[in-house]
Amino acid sequence: SPSLQPEAPARALPHVVIFPFPIQGHVNSMLKLAELLILCLQRDDDLRITFLNSEHNHNRLLHCSDVTSRFSNHPTFRFKTIPDGLPSETARSKDNLLEVFNNLKLRARDVLAELMAPSDDQPPPTCIIADGFMSFMIDAGEEFGLPVVMFRTISACCFWAYFCIPRLIEAGELPIQGNQDMDRIVTSVPGTDGLLRCRDLPGFCRVADLSDPQLQNITLQTSQTTRAQGLILNTFEALEGPILNQIRAHCANIYTVGPLNAHLKSRLPAASQFPIRQSSNSLWEEDRSCLIWLDKQPVRSVVYVSFGSLAVLEREELTEFGHGIVNSNYRFLWVLRPDSVGSHDHIDAELQAATEERGCIVEWAPQEEVLAHPAIGGFLTHSGWNSTIESITAGVPMVCWPYFADQQVNSRFVSEAWKVGLDMKDRCDRTVVKTMINDLMVEKRDDLSRSVFAKANQAKEAVSVGGSSWDNMNRLIENILSMGG
Ligand code: UDX
Repeated sequence: SPSLQPEAPARALPHVVIFPFPIQGHVNSMLKLAELLILCLQRDDDLRITFLNSEHNHNRLLHCSDVTSRFSNHPTFRFKTIPDGLPSETARSKDNLLEVFNNLKLRARDVLAELMAPSDDQPPPTCIIADGFMSFMIDAGEEFGLPVVMFRTISACCFWAYFCIPRLIEAGELPIQGNQDMDRIVTSVPGTDGLLRCRDLPGFCRVADLSDPQLQNITLQTSQTTRAQGLILNTFEALEGPILNQIRAHCANIYTVGPLNAHLKSRLPAASQFPIRQSSNSLWEEDRSCLIWLDKQPVRSVVYVSFGSLAVLEREELTEFGHGIVNSNYRFLWVLRPDSVGSHDHIDAELQAATEERGCIVEWAPQEEVLAHPAIGGFLTHSGWNSTIESITAGVPMVCWPYFADQQVNSRFVSEAWKVGLDMKDRCDRTVVKTMINDLMVEKRDDLSRSVFAKANQAKEAVSVGGSSWDNMNRLIENILSMGG
């Protein structure tokens, strides 16, 4: 009789820990994934979500954006913080990324042990979605018997270039032999068919000494991905299909769920029960006055200029971009973070005058709303992956000046594979800037617009019901819920 049946073990409540590497581009996309998880839950699904953010970034997030109001009304979501090991007053920059990485690596296991402790006010985690840059979370997950899904916040094409670094070294294609070698085509990145020159490889490859700690670290992190339960990417099949198929031979379970910004929009109407308003996850205060300025500009007349959250321009680079933009004679909206060029009160008089006449300079903008604004005609970008996919989603063509890391690969694919922009690459010269802005806004506008609008439509299809990203997100949810045992 039923009474004799052994009690079925209580099903652990599904509880996912989401842990981004604490820099803007990563926090932004992984917080979007958290929002998406909430929006995709059906009424009877019960999922706990713990978002593990660095103390430094958590305080800035709460101070600068309405994250609390978007999440606090969702009972099963909570923030937990982890110290990144730097003094609170220290500026986080590309120069201390490795130090932050090593600090988090030291602390991650203990934080996970805390979350697993029965004393914690939530049931223990049943799954971890960790930033693919932090493969040490796979070891931590194994220690506690937790499946780990990696979320790599870069493009598939750059992930694949990182994955192929050992082959490039084995084939003698790395190290790069100085500037004269930069245009050599590399052949050890399968599926790129002669597209990549040395100068298009990830910025970390531009070292003479292959024992460089950043190159070693990024190569190790990427190679460990094969141990994860799955790999989440903020991209879509129609954009990076051929490269995704190369990766699948090594990481079989890939969830392409992007573009995340577009995916959130497509899920929002279905989320009547969770009034989460899609907004940005900025760590800096957004200056919304630029949207009022844009409202007064003619359609597609403005060049939007932004180099992301980490790039730091040399004074000479700022001067060359300033003169190039001014000499192009186009209206411009330029984001100049206070920490991006020392103190930017050194903007020369010519740029100052042009700004009064036809420009707007802000320290941080609501970028997704800017890119969606009809006055925007083109985007001068550093080719960070979030900026790149946001620009494609908005149907805005780009001029790319990659700064470091994955940006060199992204800019090459933007110009030569997807044809949605022009790659300035290593040239930072006022004449080149002026010429490429003119190509973007006039000479090559028609071809670029046709391509980028086609990609924007494919992105929209991917995140609509039955689209590849829509279906992958449903599959990810099912798998996370099933990990509850
Ligand atoms: C970092 C790396 O530099 C990048 O190469 C990698 O792909 C992701 O992590 P970041 O340099 O900050 O990112 O660039 P990006 O990926 O473009 O992310 C910047 C984010 O900040 C975007 O989501 C963008 O919408 C937002 N942003 C940028 C603003 O909200 N306002 C701004 O003024 C500028």
